[in-house]
Amino acid sequence: MNPAPAVIVCETPRLRLRQLTLGDAGFIQQLLNDPDWLRYIGDRKVHSAEDARNYIRKGPAASYEKNGFGLWLVERKDGTVPVGICGLIRRDTLPDVDVGFAFLPEFRGQGYAVEAGRASLDYGRKVHGLKRVVAITSPDNVSSIKTLEKLGLRFEKMVRPNPADIELKLFATES
Ligand SMILES: CC(C)(COP(=O)(O)OP(=O)(O)OC[C@H]1O[C@@H](n2cnc3c(N)ncnc32)[C@H](O)[C@@H]1OP(=O)(O)O)[C@@H](O)C(=O)NCCC(=O)NCCS
Repeated sequence: MNPAPAVIVCETPRLRLRQLTLGDAGFIQQLLNDPDWLRYIGDRKVHSAEDARNYIRKGPAASYEKNGFGLWLVERKDGTVPVGICGLIRRDTLPDVDVGFAFLPEFRGQGYAVEAGRASLDYGRKVHGLKRVVAITSPDNVSSIKTLEKLGLRFEKMVRPNPADIELKLFATES
């Protein structure tokens, strides 16, 4: 039996955002072991296809179920090449929904993060009525900070969502 078609969330001029499925495990394993992901986001200990399927089940897929949004797969519309993930996250450690993104190195610097981030914010506002969306990032993550500023988020304060972690920069946008 063929797997059910993936749920498409929205489209931009160049990109399609769709729900992650267990079939995306290979891509997720690659992305979560990218050196910049490990440096700026952290080690999710995804070392096998089964680890990646568990990450998808417990993270993004559980969030679609609970919140109606989550981190989505970003693929180019000219074909179905996955380039990254982007979307909205509701964390226990933050009072507001936050926007997040990560792209494979070969697909960075082409404006995809801004294009997908804008679509995620629009979706959150229109479909879920979100008024305030935040983002957290390492203070030295220059590409992430530039991307957030291009998306209209502004630095508000330093936060420490997890006591064991370093202080992170909190950005926010309100509409
Ligand atoms: C953060 C990330 C998603 C940005 O992706 P990207 O593809 O470079 O983003 P875009 O091409 O849309 O560029 C966004 C802006 O940031 C700028 N930028 C990107 N990388 C930069 C860098 N290393 N130094 C300075 N500016 C940078 C771009 O030039 C662009 O601004 P411009 O249009 O004025 O030139 C990407 O670097 C990434 O996946 N990093 C690893 C995961 C990560 O850190 N995620 C964020 C966690 S908070």
